[in-house]
Amino acid sequence: MIKTITIAALIFLPWWMAVFGFAGCGWIKEKEVSTINRSFLPGQRWFDTDSVHINAHGGGILLHEGVYYWFGEHKTAGRGGNTALVGIRCYSSKDLYNWKNEGVALAVEDDTNSEIVKGSVMERPKVIYNEKSGKFVMWFHLELKGQGYRAARTAVAVSDRVTGPYQYLRSYRPNAGVWPMNGHEDLSNMRFRQDLKWWTPEWMEAVKLGLFVKRDFEKGQMSRDMTVFVDDDGTAYHIHASEENLTLHISELSDDYTSFTEKWTRILPGGHNEAPAMFKRHNKYYLLASGCTGWKPNAARLFVAESIWGPWQPLGNPCVGNDAELTFHAQSTFVLPLKDRKDAYIFMGDRWVPENPIDGRYVWLPIRFEGDKPIIRWQNEWDLSEF
Ligand code: GAL
Repeated sequence: MIKTITIAALIFLPWWMAVFGFAGCGWIKEKEVSTINRSFLPGQRWFDTDSVHINAHGGGILLHEGVYYWFGEHKTAGRGGNTALVGIRCYSSKDLYNWKNEGVALAVEDDTNSEIVKGSVMERPKVIYNEKSGKFVMWFHLELKGQGYRAARTAVAVSDRVTGPYQYLRSYRPNAGVWPMNGHEDLSNMRFRQDLKWWTPEWMEAVKLGLFVKRDFEKGQMSRDMTVFVDDDGTAYHIHASEENLTLHISELSDDYTSFTEKWTRILPGGHNEAPAMFKRHNKYYLLASGCTGWKPNAARLFVAESIWGPWQPLGNPCVGNDAELTFHAQSTFVLPLKDRKDAYIFMGDRWVPENPIDGRYVWLPIRFEGDKPIIRWQNEWDLSEF
């Protein structure tokens, strides 16, 4: 029997390979063929080196010792897939096209007393490396299980190894009992009417002045969509949507990046910005954000400042091309600067699929500069030689 099979294979295999070529040996090669990526295909499925669609949504990237690490939300299939059922996943890559699954960097816990219990919400993780402590620090948006988006906290975890496992430390509503740097005298003395109807002009005026900062002064400021940014001097900042998503806050992080100093400011009060992503070029700070329409896309907004503390000036929507007013159906999550190439920045966005979150897609596009103005143009396919 074995002899017959061997003889048949010897006769059949050369014939098969002559007709279909080596790639025709689907069971051997197909996997390899489909997993070598040589370009970015925004909005299409993106397979990792195991041929599985990458599962790292709302993510960010850390370059460490010549390797890129992509951290993101592990989503699952079906309607409930936006809650954290697995945790924060990590991938690694040397070329940015091909990503290896490094496993779950921060896992959800089974303990119902844990803040990161299975079924909580863990979003927009960002990892930074602290030179002084030699630790990797992960910040992410945390919502406590069963409370919708009411908890509005930021959370921090640390690890000695870039890929984890990360050790969960704590969650916050940041800056409790601390007034922002701008307008702090005013706010401590200011009185607000508590009966203002939401979305009326008087209410919006009060919001801009700091209605919610005052309301949340004792218990800490709300923190939903967030990112972290490390400046050239090593100082790190936490940038988050606060005040019922109406105003962004920028807060300085401590030397070890695991807590807040008392320095923080409000920017673009009443601007209704979320999904912040920050980058720096020629000593100017740029902040990308979106409007607040949940999982539905809207137009991106870009802001620029000479100092991270502001003032921040609007530059409008940086997107150009079809569906630019919907950020190409995506929402910003991170901007990756490429250190070894001049003026090379990659916009990273998410195309959310709330009915089946695991199928969410990634929209990565090159950022170009017209003078000082960043422009993001749609491309069906592109590669790094464009920089
Ligand atoms: C989006 C936000 C996402 C997620 C979602 C929940 O606006 O950017 O990260 O929080 O809302 O509806």
